[in-house]
Amino acid sequence: MHLILLGAPGSGKGTQASRIVSELGYLHVSTGDLLRNEIRKESELGKRVSAVINSGQLVDDSLVLELLKANCTLEDNVYIFDGFPRNIEQAKALDNKVLTGHQSKAIYFKLDLGLLTERLVNRRMCKDCGAIYNLVSKAPKKSGVCDNCNSSNLYQRPDDHEDTVKNRLQVFSDTINPVLEFYEGKGDLVVVDASQGADDVFGHIKGQIQG
Ligand code: AP5
Ligand code: MG
Repeated sequence: MHLILLGAPGSGKGTQASRIVSELGYLHVSTGDLLRNEIRKESELGKRVSAVINSGQLVDDSLVLELLKANCTLEDNVYIFDGFPRNIEQAKALDNKVLTGHQSKAIYFKLDLGLLTERLVNRRMCKDCGAIYNLVSKAPKKSGVCDNCNSSNLYQRPDDHEDTVKNRLQVFSDTINPVLEFYEGKGDLVVVDASQGADDVFGHIKGQIQG
């Protein structure tokens, strides 16, 4: 059963994906991580999408779909899709062009959007291993150093500045409802209370996965 993580920017998709990978053995594919990787490499694609991401808007659907398809092999693996789909067109494309013949469950991280700006502006990420921190709720043990790989390359995502966060939350509000209706209509939607602490959210997800 593949998992599709749906939720606002900062709702905890990446945090939970990393626990599901390490404790339950899934593979993680995040379209945001794939796009940021293209920007880091300064590829043609990276140059095309960088301004769009840093303004908080969505990248072109077909471009992201191709990137996703190029980075997952469904035959022998069970995936967590993080950050895809973002709109109803992507939800249908995931269903028809990627997950054909495969079972999946969509997990919606539900919480009040008002809580998210503080989470996002305080997020720091490790450039080397991708570990996710928060200056308020999950600070690294040694300031500026990754607990996981000891790197000193902790950074703030350019789209985590307050103005861009506002745009990202607005884009999310404008696009999510048809996506939720789509998965609800298929009987594949599970809702978790993402305002709880990360351990409780994980416990709920684990219960849903293991039935
Ligand atoms: P993407 O990278 O997917 O970002 P996002 O969806 O905006 O989500 P985030 O990664 O910001 O948040 P998250 O839910 O993973 O939260 P996290 O666990 O890190 O996309 C970025 C951009 O790329 C998009 O804006 C768009 O431009 C483009 N893009 C990507 N996919 C696309 C697509 N399919 N189509 C078109 N464009 C696309 O946690 C956040 C913070 O909260 C952390 O500091 C964490 O420590 C903390 N935290 C987590 N859980 C908890 C908790 N339970 N309690 C307290 N704090 C918590
Ligand atoms: Mg994320």
